[in-house]
Amino acid sequence: MSSTTTRAFAPGRVNLIGEHTDYNDGFALAFAVQQGVVVRAESIPGELILATALDLDESDSFPAAAPPSAAGWRAYVRGAVAELRAAGFAVTAARVEINGTLPMGSGLSSSAALEMALCLALLDLAGAGTPDVIGLARLGQRIEHAWLGAQTGLLDQLACLAGAPGEAVLIDFLTLELTQTPLELPECRLVTVPSGSSRVNADSGYNRRREECVEAANRVGAQSLRDVSIQDLHVLPEMLARRARHVITENGRVLQAAASLERGDMEHLGLLLDLSHRSLRDDFEVSVPAVEATVAKLKAAGAVGARMMGGGFGGTVLGLMPSDAPIPAEATVVSPGPGAHLARLGRADGQ
Ligand code: GLA
Repeated sequence: MSSTTTRAFAPGRVNLIGEHTDYNDGFALAFAVQQGVVVRAESIPGELILATALDLDESDSFPAAAPPSAAGWRAYVRGAVAELRAAGFAVTAARVEINGTLPMGSGLSSSAALEMALCLALLDLAGAGTPDVIGLARLGQRIEHAWLGAQTGLLDQLACLAGAPGEAVLIDFLTLELTQTPLELPECRLVTVPSGSSRVNADSGYNRRREECVEAANRVGAQSLRDVSIQDLHVLPEMLARRARHVITENGRVLQAAASLERGDMEHLGLLLDLSHRSLRDDFEVSVPAVEATVAKLKAAGAVGARMMGGGFGGTVLGLMPSDAPIPAEATVVSPGPGAHLARLGRADGQ
């Protein structure tokens, strides 16, 4: 049954380990954080979507039937409406308000959180039923591809949807199997620190890396880098071999990290984070000086392990800190919270 007012919450994500593996049919171990985006949507007469980003104090208005392209946060709203309709879901005129505790550009994938909250709220409003987790994640991915020009994988959306308090999720991007994994960190905690570098040219750099991975797989005659081993790399030009080596070794580190977590072995988990960072910096070449400085600062503050997180070319750094070590002033402690969900408000709600 459709409601006239609805509200959806979708969290940001931390990727513990497994970077640039999602679009290579690899593995990642990620979790939804407590912070997230809230979308409140209300049916209105007419044919328009009226959207407001409350924290930016900006608005948008466009026809639900034919959203024109746009930049920034508007692209997510217009893209969500367009992609939902393209997938066969009815989207009707609505007033949409965006709010929450996850600012855009926080490095915790506010974009996937926004996409998922928008999709859940608009689907609920139209009483159109909801696709399963994989279908919903793919919708978000199509918004990124078609409306933002970022050829991203499914990591952010799946982590956002599969979140559960106290748990991370091990994702196999080949089979799309999701395995819930308790995230217990004996005598440690995870923090994120913004590097201060705003990911200039991040999308073009990201898309280029994706192409390089496809080319590396093609040249060894494999469907994806999941089917490639270190022994195959000698046929590749040096740069492509390094790109592929990052992905292959990173997949191994994800599985080792899951085992370290199970054993409660924080030293080993920290080492894997350090090795992941080194591989992203030297083989995949997606680090920048501000990220290096942030990693060094966390290590100097006593981090058991630290690494750049997300697509690279700037962004946020993740650190595994001993619980008794003071955390740097700009750091945020992150822990697993619930996945994206609806909070129905009913017909009379005015909030
Ligand atoms: C970004 C993308 C994800 C993933 C990471 C790198 O966050 O949105 O799909 O590729 O970068 O691991």
